[in-house]
Amino acid sequence: MPKPTSVFSCSACGAQTPKWHGQCPSCGEWNTLVEERVSTARAARSSAPAPRPVPLREVRAERAPRLSTAIGELDRVLGGGLVPGSLVLLGGSPGIGKSTLTNMALGNLAAAGRTTLYVSGEESAAQIRLRAERLGPAALDVPVLAETDLDAVLAALEAERPDACVIDSVQTLHAGTLESAPGTVGQVREVATRIATVAKRQGTAVLLVGHVTKEGALAGPRVLEHLVDCVVQFEGERERTYRTLRALKNRFGSTNEVGVFEMREGGLVEVLDASARFVGEATKAPGSVVLAAMEGSRPLLVEVQALVSQSELVPPRRVCNGIDRNRLALVLAVLGRHAGIGLGTSDVFVNVVGGVRIDEPGADLAIALAVASAARGMATDPSPLACFGEIGLTGELRTVAHPERRAQEAAKFGLRTVVSAGSAGTLREAVRGALGTAHSARRAA
Ligand code: TYD
Ligand code: MG
Repeated sequence: MPKPTSVFSCSACGAQTPKWHGQCPSCGEWNTLVEERVSTARAARSSAPAPRPVPLREVRAERAPRLSTAIGELDRVLGGGLVPGSLVLLGGSPGIGKSTLTNMALGNLAAAGRTTLYVSGEESAAQIRLRAERLGPAALDVPVLAETDLDAVLAALEAERPDACVIDSVQTLHAGTLESAPGTVGQVREVATRIATVAKRQGTAVLLVGHVTKEGALAGPRVLEHLVDCVVQFEGERERTYRTLRALKNRFGSTNEVGVFEMREGGLVEVLDASARFVGEATKAPGSVVLAAMEGSRPLLVEVQALVSQSELVPPRRVCNGIDRNRLALVLAVLGRHAGIGLGTSDVFVNVVGGVRIDEPGADLAIALAVASAARGMATDPSPLACFGEIGLTGELRTVAHPERRAQEAAKFGLRTVVSAGSAGTLREAVRGALGTAHSARRAA
């Protein structure tokens, strides 16, 4: 039987099948399969001797110094700067500031005497210049190439041999060897693979900018996550000022680190006193609590707000920003079942203030207390009140990592009362403590 010369790849999940289907057999999405040519140029290895594996002890591992982007938060998320020859994928929705961040990083590298290259397939050189003018003189020193043809970009990379290079974005480059349109799975994979080969060979650190789909996944799609050394996600809402930078995968560092930025007139500014700002801005109204979160190795205080109102809809609305929907559903179920706060006929809105996204189980208690406080129409006592803790399905509070550091951070900003698994055994107790009833009764007595 002749070997098939093309396969069909799903542009949502990357699965491959030999035949076209209307629905991807792997992820169930419709109309996502696109044809890709299979390279038949796999030359026979003829009579070459088999390669010899080497014991790890004898492997030479050179530790090239990292390139510092002079953006502290970015360097930290990368695990200490860019690694020469590595590929970093920077994902984020449109308008979040990916081009701004990468342009600033290259500008700083150029100012430190490194050679750089900014390849843009999205904007013209003139548009990039207009942005760079807002970012200051260093950004203007970056050489730019407005190009979408992969071969041209690779030729420039090989001719210039920059220390660091930005490809903005990987979805806009086009490999002539493939017939599919730019941005499809096959194209994105081909583009990333060929750039990686050149980058590794000449030691160029490459930042690949990638778009995310409306669901938040990196578009064009997960195939890239396997190919690159680091995946960094830029999150937040376009209309808000705060943005977080988070490593989802990092071969050269921890994936726990998070950087907080603010978009200003002159580009992105690192927010080093994020806790102070969020606590300072916290309303002391019913429905507001302060979550003592851990963002990687750093404690961060953020305000969690909730609104509960009588619903006209069946089922009622559950709207959340900055937390996981399923987490909210779980917390509401436990509140109803184990803490006597049933919200089956109420709309519930929960928001992490400032556009920050919290992805840790320690947020459960803050969500629960904010909702409880909103449902009862009572501010917490004291207000603002700091809390953290995971909620178990039987209504118990569970300890989470770094309780001391969270409490210390809260104390540093004047929040002396911290509700956690250390101060309450169950959610019911925590609610009673936070909403004053037990406390004030005791105090009055
Ligand atoms: P951009 O970096 O182009 O986003 P992305 O590449 O992720 O699509 O910038 C996004 C927004 O930031 C844009 O709407 C304008 C705004 N912005 C500022 O507020 N201040 C600035 O100094 C710059 C350069 C951009
Ligand atoms: Mg951009």
